[in-house]
Amino acid sequence: MASQFKVVLIFTMAVSSFLSSSVAQQTCSSYTFSNNKAFNSCTELPHLGASLYYTLAPSSDTINVAFKAPQSSDGWVAWGLNPKSTKMVGSQAIVAFFHSNGSMIAYPTQLDSYAPSMAPEDLSFPVSDMAAEYVKNEMIIYATLKLPGGSTKFNHVWQEGSSVANDVPQAHSTSGGNIESLGTIDFQ
Ligand SMILES: *[C@@H]1O[C@H](CO)[C@@H](O)[C@H](O)[C@H]1NC(C)=O
Repeated sequence: MASQFKVVLIFTMAVSSFLSSSVAQQTCSSYTFSNNKAFNSCTELPHLGASLYYTLAPSSDTINVAFKAPQSSDGWVAWGLNPKSTKMVGSQAIVAFFHSNGSMIAYPTQLDSYAPSMAPEDLSFPVSDMAAEYVKNEMIIYATLKLPGGSTKFNHVWQEGSSVANDVPQAHSTSGGNIESLGTIDFQ
């Protein structure tokens, strides 16, 4: 009797972990972007409900990316690569939010300290075709990046904050998922 119970339990656990992994996968790959934008790969990031979509160019030195995360219309989202270190400082990021004129904007900014200016500035590598959208309570950043250093593997960071003042994203929360939102990604 006891061993039968154990078998049922293991089976149940196996089915539920299978279900949850396939549901997670479906969530990212079944998403339809506006304007027929499509990406070869996607990954559900482990914090902040975010996901990253990307297509590596055949030359392996350029990617088209979309970063998507839940946010209220008052907040901001950001994603970036950190070519030289891990964590926030040194990250080459793109941030998006609603400008006070009512348009969503996206621009590059370097996170050079734990209190960065968040002002628009060039990154350490070329970035182009930046755009942002707000769809069903999610902010989406689009960009094309020329990958630095001949690698496809990077440390990356992502973030969200609840407020923007005078068109400057304000500090994010420093607990929970907001301090765990970093990792490595291989675009290959
Ligand atoms: C809002 O401001 C941004 C940044 O200056 C600009 O790119 C965009 O065109 C503006 N949108 C409108 C509707 O004025």
